[in-house]
Amino acid sequence: MLVILKRDDEEISRQAAQLIASAVRKKPALTLGLATGSTMVGVYKHLVGLHQQGSLDFSRVAHPQSFHHFMRENLFAHVNVDPGNVHIPDGTIRGNYEDYCASYEDAIRMAGGIDLQLLGIGRNGHIGFNEPTSSIGSRTRLKVLSQETMDDNSKSFAPGEESPRCAITMGIGTILEARKILLLAAGKSKSAAVAKSIEGPITSAVSASALQLHPDVTFIIDDDAASQLTQRAYYHRVLKMTAQLTPERLS
Ligand code: GLP
Repeated sequence: MLVILKRDDEEISRQAAQLIASAVRKKPALTLGLATGSTMVGVYKHLVGLHQQGSLDFSRVAHPQSFHHFMRENLFAHVNVDPGNVHIPDGTIRGNYEDYCASYEDAIRMAGGIDLQLLGIGRNGHIGFNEPTSSIGSRTRLKVLSQETMDDNSKSFAPGEESPRCAITMGIGTILEARKILLLAAGKSKSAAVAKSIEGPITSAVSASALQLHPDVTFIIDDDAASQLTQRAYYHRVLKMTAQLTPERLS
């Protein structure tokens, strides 16, 4: 895994947007797995900026991801993505979850698999909504959310409005099949989860640690989120040499 250490949220967003933009330019019909959460807001702002300057075309890109309103507000309303190419799990379905989730997996397969999956990370190390103890082989399914995640999510809802207790999420096995993965983390509250994910043992107690099994993962993290990593000097050195020896990994 490649660990890119940045100063702050703004630098993370810019770097992630650059990597996503160059992937779209290399493959205009890219299947892009997107993520929600406050960490992503800056990334989408930069992508919208690039689109508005005329240097980024989303017309052929396909997106499987979640949280309709968030994605519309922050990205889809501002870029030229074809709504027919957007596949967001439907949080309003009731019953027959298994069939619905299987059809979501089929849609990913029919799109040729996910080329680039963008991820945030929960304070408890979740990716998507794969809460601790999620199987590393899990597929898209209905997942009961932890109290910690419900509390964090409640910030996105109006006061008094109930935060969801369950979510439909891609599984860890689904995520691991993406060809490339970008995980972004900012802030002190993420530092323990980040350290366990990158330097800890692979365990279902920390879902993001499963990313150690993936051959092409890049973590982009700010100083605060990186504060519990023990190998920071090494990550800086790797990054410098990657820029010299295999610059395509960074563009
Ligand atoms: C939610 C989302 C995750 C996201 C996490 C962190 O749980 N399902 O995709 O990574 O929140 O969100 P934030 O970036 O707001 O800390």
